[in-house]
Amino acid sequence: MSIQKRVWLTGASSGMGLNMAEQLAAQGHKLALTARSAKPLLELAERYPGQILVITADLTDLNAVQTAAERINSAWGALDLVILNAGTCEYMDLPTFDSALFARVMQTNVQGTVHCIEAALPLLRAGTKPHLVGVGSSVTYVPLPRAEAYGASKAAVRYLFQSLELDLAQWDIKVSLVSPGFVDTPLTAANDFPMPMQVSSEKAARTILRGIERGQREIRFPTVFISILRLIGSLPAALRVLLTRRLARPASEEGSN
Ligand SMILES: NC(=O)c1ccc[n+]([C@@H]2O[C@H](COP(=O)([O-])OP(=O)(O)OC[C@H]3O[C@@H](n4cnc5c(N)ncnc54)[C@H](OP(=O)(O)O)[C@@H]3O)[C@@H](O)[C@H]2O)c1
Repeated sequence: MSIQKRVWLTGASSGMGLNMAEQLAAQGHKLALTARSAKPLLELAERYPGQILVITADLTDLNAVQTAAERINSAWGALDLVILNAGTCEYMDLPTFDSALFARVMQTNVQGTVHCIEAALPLLRAGTKPHLVGVGSSVTYVPLPRAEAYGASKAAVRYLFQSLELDLAQWDIKVSLVSPGFVDTPLTAANDFPMPMQVSSEKAARTILRGIERGQREIRFPTVFISILRLIGSLPAALRVLLTRRLARPASEEGSN
């Protein structure tokens, strides 16, 4: 990104968010970085003095998010780019359907994102060439086993950003959605299944930032993996279910990870 932007990036303490923060800081942008863990944000702020606002907040807490936006408003009065990347993932292990797990995932991935949108929009409306970016997932192309909560939360994020694109056009606020495949981050480190075509979080961050700079509506990667998922998603339902059910873990393996 050539012109210096005022950027709010959530989920900046690890994985893709930390890598995006590093790359944006190196490019000279002003950054407001949010996560619950302060340490990685403070370390980055120390390396880029005067460039980074460290704002620790739990995004599921609306008051905390509003306070974060007030700090950004006092510092800059506007935002040019908002990247809502914070998220979590938990898998459902049937036969017990865990509604508390479902609520946790929805609270962070959907409600946390929604809190940020409410807080960021007035600042974006005051920004230069404003751009709102949400991070969804390639899981939305094909329903997968155990992803009842995670997949539903990311399907909500997809619809949310697609709908926002229509409504925010009147204020010239661009909207993009990021749909990553598997990326090597702390979020996927605990996965006990194969993750084909996984990319590094450094590479993922570069791909996302390049897509943002190009103004892409949807930033999907890696390309081959996404094409396979979309192909499976377009098959007749009976065939799609036959293929994807094979990925399900038998109940007898319950608790084995
Ligand atoms: N890795 C993948 O393969 C993959 C694939 C598709 C989509 N995604 C999505 O990409 C995004 C980034 O994931 P990642 O893989 O980089 O994971 P990660 O390393 O676990 O990073 C998640 C970030 O979100 C923050 N976060 C989580 N809950 C929060 C909360 N309640 N309040 C504030 N911050 C919170 C975490 O910070 P704190 O814990 O410090 O709060 C952390 O900075 C997520 O939305 C994820 O769903 C990841």
